[in-house]
Amino acid sequence: MSTVETVALVKHYDNDVIAVNSIDLHIKEGEFLVLLGPSGSGKTTLLRMIAGLEKVTSGKIYMGGRDVTHLPPRARNLSMVFQSYALYPHMSVFGNIAFPLKAKGLPYQERKKKVEWAASLFGIEQYLQRKPRQLSGGQRQRVALARALVHEPSVFLLDEPLSNLDAQLRASARDEIKQFQRRIATTTIYVTHDQVEAMGMGDRIAVMNHGNMHQIGTPQELYREPADTFVATFLGSPPMNLLNQKECIIGFHPEHFLPKDIIHEESPRFEFPFRVTRVEYLGADRFVYGIVPSESGHTRVISKIPSLVTVPLETDQLYTFAVLKEDMKYFDKKTGKRIDPIPFSMAVFEHAEV
Ligand SMILES: Nc1ncnc2c1ncn2[C@@H]1O[C@H](COP(=O)(O)OP(=O)(O)O)[C@@H](O)[C@H]1O
Ligand SMILES: [Mg+2]
Repeated sequence: MSTVETVALVKHYDNDVIAVNSIDLHIKEGEFLVLLGPSGSGKTTLLRMIAGLEKVTSGKIYMGGRDVTHLPPRARNLSMVFQSYALYPHMSVFGNIAFPLKAKGLPYQERKKKVEWAASLFGIEQYLQRKPRQLSGGQRQRVALARALVHEPSVFLLDEPLSNLDAQLRASARDEIKQFQRRIATTTIYVTHDQVEAMGMGDRIAVMNHGNMHQIGTPQELYREPADTFVATFLGSPPMNLLNQKECIIGFHPEHFLPKDIIHEESPRFEFPFRVTRVEYLGADRFVYGIVPSESGHTRVISKIPSLVTVPLETDQLYTFAVLKEDMKYFDKKTGKRIDPIPFSMAVFEHAEV
């Protein structure tokens, strides 16, 4: 295992696209870092530069403190698994997993030991003699992961490795990746555009958009203290509600936007008129969709209410909802960056503060 560091890392493509714009990353030994961002945000480019598969335009990459910026992939002791991993169809599972070891010239007995170890990480020991076509998609994925890990790389890079699996398999594969990573503690960078995957897997998450790094932090930090409106609306399902107010944008999570009567009387809070347009019952929660009317226009807002709270809510009715002061976030209107603490003088609210 090894630390990974990038310093002011930049990638321009010939077509003037700035795919990666001055990224600083400090990944700890054994850490599981998720790179999260929408399609085209620069995740793959960043990962390929770390892998040594893409030339850097400027900046530095360090592994275990060593400058590897201009070293070829094989000198970096890392392994990468892509979305479209390819197994050798004519080789057995054993042959596939053993391939990187054979290329290194390891004797058969040692190869066998390592293959069995890597296969056991993913519970595929019983399939070693099969050919890839005799396996399910999920099993093939595990073979690809085992092959990538068999030579015990110091850094493990995964680029949307689960996107070819169906939802159920994805959930269990996510679990397996997390478990083996904890067990062998290989420094891991995992790319995804799926915020649920990122929240569930990452020790920390790095959020990218348009080649820029917006925020790096634990899932809790990103959720509770988003650095800007992009992070705030990219995480959570449903994501944070944003409302334009006089001098700034205010934000609050759906689970913090609740009927006034169920919020403790004495707690400082802000109240809003809320016209309900649709109620969705989802078992543990109700999602309540509606509109907050104001002078500056109507804004769509979502409330997430635990089903234990049985307040009746009818469509087309106007209610008073409230958000605790401590759950309210503020963002700059121009830059979208979070303002904290909010300047005392700011006239933020059109709505009543109670
Ligand atoms: N080989 C390339 N040549 C030119 N532009 C590229 C190339 N690869 C990626 N890009 C551009 O760089 C940006 C980032 O792409 P990519 O790193 O693949 O994003 P992501 O993995 O987040 O979807 C996109 O605008 C993409 O079109
Ligand atoms: Mg990509």
